[in-house]
Amino acid sequence: MADEIVPPATQLAAVSLENDGSTVQRAQFSNRVLIRTILDRPDGGAGLAGQTVRIGGWVKSGRDQGKRTFSFLAVNDGSCPANLQVMVDPSLYDVSNLVATGTCVTVDGVLKVPPKGKGTQQQIELNVVKVIDVGTVDASKYPLPKTKLTLETLRDVLHLRSRTNSISAVARIRNALAFATHSFFQEHSFLYIHTPIITTSDCEGAGEMFQATTLINYTERLEQDLIDNPPPTEAEVEAARLIVIERGNVVAELKAAKASKEAITAAVAELKIAKETFAHIDERSRLRPGLPKKDGNIDYSKDFFGRQAFLTVSGQLQVETYACALSNVYTFGPTFRAENSHTSRHLAEFWMVEPEIAFADLEDDMNCAEAYVKYMCNWLLEKCYADMELMAKNFDSGCIDRLKLVASTPFGRITYTKAIELLEEAVAKGKEFDNNVEWGIDLASEHERYLTEVLFQKPLIVYNYPKGIKAFYMRLNDDEKTVAAMDVLVPKVGELIGGSQREERYDVIKKRIEEMGLPIEPYEWYLDLRRYGTVKHCGFGLGFERMILFATGLDNIRDVIPFPRYPGKADL
Ligand code: 4AD
Ligand code: MG
Repeated sequence: MADEIVPPATQLAAVSLENDGSTVQRAQFSNRVLIRTILDRPDGGAGLAGQTVRIGGWVKSGRDQGKRTFSFLAVNDGSCPANLQVMVDPSLYDVSNLVATGTCVTVDGVLKVPPKGKGTQQQIELNVVKVIDVGTVDASKYPLPKTKLTLETLRDVLHLRSRTNSISAVARIRNALAFATHSFFQEHSFLYIHTPIITTSDCEGAGEMFQATTLINYTERLEQDLIDNPPPTEAEVEAARLIVIERGNVVAELKAAKASKEAITAAVAELKIAKETFAHIDERSRLRPGLPKKDGNIDYSKDFFGRQAFLTVSGQLQVETYACALSNVYTFGPTFRAENSHTSRHLAEFWMVEPEIAFADLEDDMNCAEAYVKYMCNWLLEKCYADMELMAKNFDSGCIDRLKLVASTPFGRITYTKAIELLEEAVAKGKEFDNNVEWGIDLASEHERYLTEVLFQKPLIVYNYPKGIKAFYMRLNDDEKTVAAMDVLVPKVGELIGGSQREERYDVIKKRIEEMGLPIEPYEWYLDLRRYGTVKHCGFGLGFERMILFATGLDNIRDVIPFPRYPGKADL
């Protein structure tokens, strides 16, 4: 290999910085050092002064100081929110090619402690000895100027917005919460189960599913084919049929005349070709433009799966099959809902964490949900503090205190009936809501937020909802009016978690499915779980993006998922 790609400081490159500030020896799969390894040390990197390292990153801002003195670059590689200050001697490189925001640089340099009183807060900076690689930027065309763009504007540059401070901090927070999720459930002996993305069961029974079908492309191709190769006419079909009869007669005559074996074999082969040609022509003559139909309805037996299929709205029903065998399980994957919501809390594609616990009831469910949310808050405080500080500085000054409060305060717990009473009291005292309050309503976001933000000022679990507004699988309470459902409501977001104890009694759940007007047949496998070795069990779903919204204090769910999908938008 050429000299210049041998990194100058292999020891440092192989060292990885742990969250507690300690270092361990670990392969880095790159010959450069993460900027985090330098700046996130308890001494801010000062102890590394004198070491030669190779770093790589994108220039946040650069100052070209002309020919006579050093130029400065603030370089970020995404490993932490902070930038490394990099000094380049103009005699080493044409600095004008380095300073544009967005330029990618790989450089070797010597770490040194900056002179005091220069206004810099950094404990360490890099004095470049060699420029290894540069990915230049035409500043007049770069879509991300140095001046701040709003989060809303950034949604139109999804492929570059990850280079901004805010979106990269969100990415690190999102990553941390995913790690925390696996860590929490693994520590508590839950098995991670992969449930299908393509499904034939509507879990929530709400009819908000995206359909997975190849019928439309098939139909489009067919229609084009019928234009390019018009289908055979009736006369052509008849002609092909006559050839079959004719050749059949020839075979019969040869056999009757006891002709030679060769002659009969040849005639049979001709007959076979005629039959195949007829079958093909006959089939093509039946092709019609449009979707395949049977008895006036779309014929899904012709679709890819031989039946109607959808993208999942929840992995719950499938994960229940594993809970009813392996006890404690969870699924964590993308879910899809075709609701035409344009709110700041809804996505068409979002990620859900869904634990399912066997031998457990609604109270166990609430305890698990509360412990899990607290665990994630503590995790961010311990492992993602710098990113949380950035969120506090730029978006929501209260977000760190909120994490602390949630991690340390027991969640409120009230029944739905009590929640309605509290809302009615508020209305009596003059509080105005857009949506009417009465027992039986599905709580609107404004009601949920009023309860958690104003009345309780902390997370609140509302349980035992009217059966009429909840899904068929929730356990019917003894009052026969409510079900063992629970929602966790949090400030800023409203509903973060929806869960329930599942109906484990065969007769009761069958009746519920029928009462709700759902077809029994698609749920037969689900009923089998109740027919054979049924067990008390419960679970919940946490909207992963809502958790990130809650943690960061950002206002719009479209900014906490890398590639947001919502009505009218599915970029990249
Ligand atoms: O309350 P939901 O609909 O519950 C279920 O799907 C259950 N099957 C979960 C279970 O018991 N295993 O959805 C769960 C959570 C909501 O509380 C909310 O946080 C989030 O998923 N959610 C959405 N997040 C973003 N965009 C949407 N369109 C969402 N719909 C639900
Ligand atoms: Mg819900």
